[in-house]
Amino acid sequence: MSIAFHAERQSFKLDTAGSSYVIKIHHNGFLSCVYYGAYIPDDNLTDFERRHVYASFSAWPPGTEPYTFTPDTCPMEIGCNGGCDMRQSSVRIRNADGNAVSDFRYVSHRIEAGKPAIPGLPALYENEPGDCETLVITARDETTGAEMDLYYTVFTKHAAMTRAAVIRNDSDKELELEQALSFCLDLNRSDFDLISLHGKHMQERDFCRRPIGHGIQGIYSRRGSSGHQFNPFIALIDRSGNEDNGEAYGFNLVYSSNFKALTEVDYNGSTRVIMGLGDDDFGWRLAPGESFYTPEAVLVYSNEGLGGMSRTFHRLYNENLVRGDWKRRHRPLLINNWEGTYFDFDEEKLFAIAKWAKETGLEMFVMDDGWFGKRDDDTSGLGDWFVNENKIHGGLPALVKRVKDLGLKFGIWFEPEMISPDSDLFRAHPDWAIHVPNRPSSIGRHQLILDMTREDVRDYILGRMYDIISSTGADYVKWDFNRNMTEAGSALLPPDRQKEFYHRYILGVYALIDRLLTAFPHLLLEGCSGGGGRYDPGMMYYSPQIWCSDNTDALSRVDVQFGSSLCYPASVQGAHVSASPRASYETKRNVAMWGSFGYELDPAKISEEARAEIRTQIADYHRYYDLIHFGDLYRLISPWEDPYKAAWQFVDPEKTETLVTVLIKFMMRERNFFLRLKGLDPDAYYRLDENGEVYSGALLMNAGLNLSFMPNEDGFSKTFHFTKVEA
Ligand code: GLA
Repeated sequence: MSIAFHAERQSFKLDTAGSSYVIKIHHNGFLSCVYYGAYIPDDNLTDFERRHVYASFSAWPPGTEPYTFTPDTCPMEIGCNGGCDMRQSSVRIRNADGNAVSDFRYVSHRIEAGKPAIPGLPALYENEPGDCETLVITARDETTGAEMDLYYTVFTKHAAMTRAAVIRNDSDKELELEQALSFCLDLNRSDFDLISLHGKHMQERDFCRRPIGHGIQGIYSRRGSSGHQFNPFIALIDRSGNEDNGEAYGFNLVYSSNFKALTEVDYNGSTRVIMGLGDDDFGWRLAPGESFYTPEAVLVYSNEGLGGMSRTFHRLYNENLVRGDWKRRHRPLLINNWEGTYFDFDEEKLFAIAKWAKETGLEMFVMDDGWFGKRDDDTSGLGDWFVNENKIHGGLPALVKRVKDLGLKFGIWFEPEMISPDSDLFRAHPDWAIHVPNRPSSIGRHQLILDMTREDVRDYILGRMYDIISSTGADYVKWDFNRNMTEAGSALLPPDRQKEFYHRYILGVYALIDRLLTAFPHLLLEGCSGGGGRYDPGMMYYSPQIWCSDNTDALSRVDVQFGSSLCYPASVQGAHVSASPRASYETKRNVAMWGSFGYELDPAKISEEARAEIRTQIADYHRYYDLIHFGDLYRLISPWEDPYKAAWQFVDPEKTETLVTVLIKFMMRERNFFLRLKGLDPDAYYRLDENGEVYSGALLMNAGLNLSFMPNEDGFSKTFHFTKVEA
């Protein structure tokens, strides 16, 4: 049993494969987290329930006599608004009287095997029976009749849990949600650093680490997508913690729209963490009897530093998030024409790329933007999902047949949520674009966004995609999303529901993708948003790979890949070799192999040597596929620690082989370079492929590889593959 209820002590203990979480029901019904950290066998944490309560000005809630309790100083499972807890709230509900006070107290609970799905939202799932157990605690605000179900799922194979909430209107009057976060967690110390991932187009998921202090720090998106600027992920790590040591708590939101993630250090030195959908411009009317489902947040605990935290996220997402046909199957090695041709192509140019791809050993040709409507640049055509026969003479099915006859799979680009003002679709349905009355809409990349809250819009887009995919037999869709959302409103929502727009929008997108995948269960979906602008677990639930960045310059893209690896596995990371000038094809290959690998170039525009070199690269991709996609990642030298070089390593779960990649970004100043490996069996022996030399795991991890004589040149890189041998 991973979840136990101790009736006498009125407490719950939730154990994962490496962490424990203990919840106390106080005598007055308030719910507290009294412990979250490394696994402990004990469930007697009575001593930890005691908190300072006589702080001046911190009020005592009614009905809690004797006054030994105030939510202002207690670690609360629900951050109620308007009562005694003065910290950031996690739920705010405006009632028919016009105030937004709530006071949620325990009513009942149940413990269930498995993990329930969340209607309309992506969520982790139970992979095999016994993987998960779920605690559902119901709490109620007696005055308004609002009820909350707090969902806690623990994973028996990973040091991970998920949290989500359902808010129900159990009254006869309407309620308005103003805030509905996924969780509130109070840790009883504040000596942490906060880690987050920020960035921009072409430079996603940069690493940021800073100490937390009294007050609020955090990240958010108000862009209508999770965005390039902040990923919906934060971690707290011991001040002295690092890649291998220290306690780290990782938090990741399974959601693709506006979000917020905050830490708050209070006056007693506790740290509150709250995370959930963005509440800046959010409201949700809840009629009597209606429920609202929050997105789910993933909580990972590690006492092996950031590395341990990341490996838990990777295994968890590979097993319990990524779904469908392509979850464990080798995905086709692809070539995409975007950086090779941009909009300038016809069917012969595309076929020539496909033909070369087949001869070179690639497995799928992907036709990117520009094949439809009037689309010779990015100023027009989005929404007109009919093939442009001035470019693709003879139509799409004919081209796809030629490509498939070569023995390749075929992939196609869509940007289903977008509409160009210069498109037939917009001319026919101007109100299908999101907009607010009496205010002109701002333009991003010359385009507007379709109103995905509307069923008629979703039906139309699904219909177009269905026609194209079924008439061609396309195997893969790249689903792009290339602007931020502004003037976000729907022509169909009444004024008092416009605040529901952002959440309804993403629910509409999820519903659309779900219908597409139901219609084409074997389709491989690759997510994209100007590269990695919607690189979040919500999208990963639908698309097992996401184009990680439009930056294909290996020497700077490697930073994006390091940042992404904080919580996302290599298997979801779309990574391609392009004709970018700064690095050799070997280095570009070595960097792109850390992910779902492919090429993005026009072979006619690269040298014969480059083409020959690519031919030799394919075999390694197949050989190392499982090791990279499903092995354990060790970040040996990260860009946030060393500006000159980077190194990373994959080890298979049985520790029988390892692949090490070293990259010199800029000529190193110091020539001593002993690279210590990680994650091997110290007692085992490993043979290096390139020269047959055998080393103990202990030597490789403690003395390391002597790379002091490796070429010290900008952009040089090298891989080392070791296989375990009998001693
Ligand atoms: C985005 C994507 C690119 C490409 C273009 C096409 O920027 O990230 O890979 O598909 O759109 O317009």
